[in-house]
Amino acid sequence: MRVLVTGSTGYLGRAVTAALLEAGHEVVAVMRPGSHRAWPADAQVRRAVADVMDERALTEAMSGCDAVVHLVGIIREFPRQGVTMDRLHVQATQAVLSAMRAVGVERIVYVSALRARPDAPSRYHRSKWAAECAVREQAPAWSILRPSIIVGRGGPGPNFVRQLADLIQKSPVVPVVGDGLYLLQPVHIQDVARAVAACVTSPIQATVDLAGPHTVTYLSLLGRIATVLHRPLRTIRVPMRLMLRVAPWLERFPAFPVTHDQLLMLREGNATSPEQAETARRLLGFACRPITDEDLLRSL
Ligand SMILES: NC(=O)c1ccc[n+]([C@@H]2O[C@H](COP(=O)([O-])OP(=O)(O)OC[C@H]3O[C@@H](n4cnc5c(N)ncnc54)[C@H](OP(=O)(O)O)[C@@H]3O)[C@@H](O)[C@H]2O)c1
Repeated sequence: MRVLVTGSTGYLGRAVTAALLEAGHEVVAVMRPGSHRAWPADAQVRRAVADVMDERALTEAMSGCDAVVHLVGIIREFPRQGVTMDRLHVQATQAVLSAMRAVGVERIVYVSALRARPDAPSRYHRSKWAAECAVREQAPAWSILRPSIIVGRGGPGPNFVRQLADLIQKSPVVPVVGDGLYLLQPVHIQDVARAVAACVTSPIQATVDLAGPHTVTYLSLLGRIATVLHRPLRTIRVPMRLMLRVAPWLERFPAFPVTHDQLLMLREGNATSPEQAETARRLLGFACRPITDEDLLRSL
């Protein structure tokens, strides 16, 4: 099949592109103007330079494709530059779906996020839910994957482990918001990429949580990253309530490491239930692997 991938230049995009090629598909990698120069020359991948909001360019790039993998997403808004969740999650997904209709492409695999729901406290999860709804309502053949935090070797981009490693390496003391006991269920990037490739071939018409077999706390993950980096971990507790108050003011500075939205997501945790994990295993035909120390190192 010929598969168009949006968000191909990102952390997950590189791994997904590799998995699709490995499965024998042709890949049309959408990259926005500017980013295409950073993409390594790869004879097997056709580049299509387009902003994900540019429906005309998307339609052109999609011509001759059999399926779309839609990965574009952001974790941080910069409203003054037009970088908002509403635009990059909801409107971009609408643009992709319109282009699919124009060209007659029926299949889409959309990568959403674990805990996306309409009444979520975070804009990230609410906008992912709205994008999911558009996919479910408009695409004739669809699969929606909801990964927890993704770990492992991928493309450039601010992945979670890289961000924590940065804090450990650059700050003499690492601020931990609240008690740090928030639950996370990291999933291996190769498992996410494998799930995407499987859904391209056989759309499962379902919304599936993707999480590894082990639930960890934020604090224990931080400790494990420090251990693999051979760095001492000195932490300082910062009250969650204080952070929630100051983040809306400070998050406009890119150097401030966390946003109000991210704090809300951290506070509620990012794990799935054993029932959902079993459903994913049944629908995808494989179980997600545990995360090793080597995987943490490869994320950097
Ligand atoms: N990483 C995780 O732990 C995680 C967990 C759950 C869900 N997800 C979801 O998985 C998807 C991929 O995440 P990721 O970690 O790979 O993110 P990422 O590294 O930040 O990549 C985002 C991609 O979107 C592209 N993009 C952003 N704005 C664009 C625009 N206007 N036009 C075209 N492309 C644009 C970026 O292109 P540039 O290279 O040009 O910036 C990049 O290719 C996202 O939807 C994310 O929400 C990720």
